[in-house]
Amino acid sequence: AIFKEVYADRFYVGAALNLEQIWEQNPIASKVVEQHFNSIVAENCMKSMFMQPREDEFYFKDADQFVAYGEKHDMHMVGHTLIWHSQAPRWFFSDKEGKDVSRDVLIERMRNHIHTVVSRYKGRIHGWDVVNEAILDNGEYRKSKFYDIIGEDFIPLAFQFAHEADPEAELYYNDYSTAIPAKRAGIVRLARKLQKAGIRIDGLGMQEHHGLTHASLEETEKTINDFADLGVKVMVTEMDISVLPHARRHVGAELTDTAAYSKSLDPYKENLPEDKMNELGNRYVDFFKLYLKHQDKISRVTLWGVGDADSWKNDWPIEGRTDYPLLFDRDYEPKPFFKDLIDLA
Ligand code: XIL
Repeated sequence: AIFKEVYADRFYVGAALNLEQIWEQNPIASKVVEQHFNSIVAENCMKSMFMQPREDEFYFKDADQFVAYGEKHDMHMVGHTLIWHSQAPRWFFSDKEGKDVSRDVLIERMRNHIHTVVSRYKGRIHGWDVVNEAILDNGEYRKSKFYDIIGEDFIPLAFQFAHEADPEAELYYNDYSTAIPAKRAGIVRLARKLQKAGIRIDGLGMQEHHGLTHASLEETEKTINDFADLGVKVMVTEMDISVLPHARRHVGAELTDTAAYSKSLDPYKENLPEDKMNELGNRYVDFFKLYLKHQDKISRVTLWGVGDADSWKNDWPIEGRTDYPLLFDRDYEPKPFFKDLIDLA
């Protein structure tokens, strides 16, 4: 059975594509993408450090190729991401002496970046993750360079610039850990603020980077409902489920032998034991059941990669681990629970 076909009346099913790993050098992966998914998002190549590595020097080759690929296969395409504190080039925030630029200069750089990128793909990219990860887990604004230099207005300004560049494009705010109540409330406050100011916002993205234990289904459901109550689309934008111990918790503990440390956090190097595979499958099924229950609110469910070997989770938050977070294994074979997800729809 074909994933995108059985989910066709529910929501788009998408995958994040990484240029090196997917279609260029990996025909097996691209076959899976073309067979099972009807939506794509660029994992990295549309981020500002790649699109504008130096001031006014734009690099379009990879993003152009991504968009051409999506068009060729009639994919629903999402642009990721215009304004994010991470993977932004350092020059963006500083003057020639390395000091922070003024508010006006940073706003002008935002405008130029957003206008250039969005207008290049006008009418081709369906929607943009305009701002990514601007709210902290406690619901407050992240103290990023954008926030420090411009203040909270950088968010409405980013949406306004994107709208100017492509009035037809959908505009999204995207973040992780959206099931945390304080964070959920912060995002709702932000969206309301934009709406009240008459700024277009079409959707709220829940990244859905999960582990086997954290993030409760109940809290996730509240987030889906609260976001939908704003009258915007809800989307699952970056789903994966790590089976590994959460490494961040251990960071800060005495760390003398990083190789040994990394090994201790890499328990399934050879293969994933059956009980863990089942646990992973159950977790995916639980989340997909929830998404299906709210299919009237959810417009898209995108996985953050295709096969396990491609996943950023092998290298985050520490490098060199063997994770199994996606729907397809290292040979791009569907995992045993893939048929359960098919049967659910
Ligand atoms: C990640 C990519 O998957 C990695 O390849 C890259 O090194 C770092 O960024 N939230 C986001 C994504 O919005 O852009 C991030 O993607 C994962 C977390």
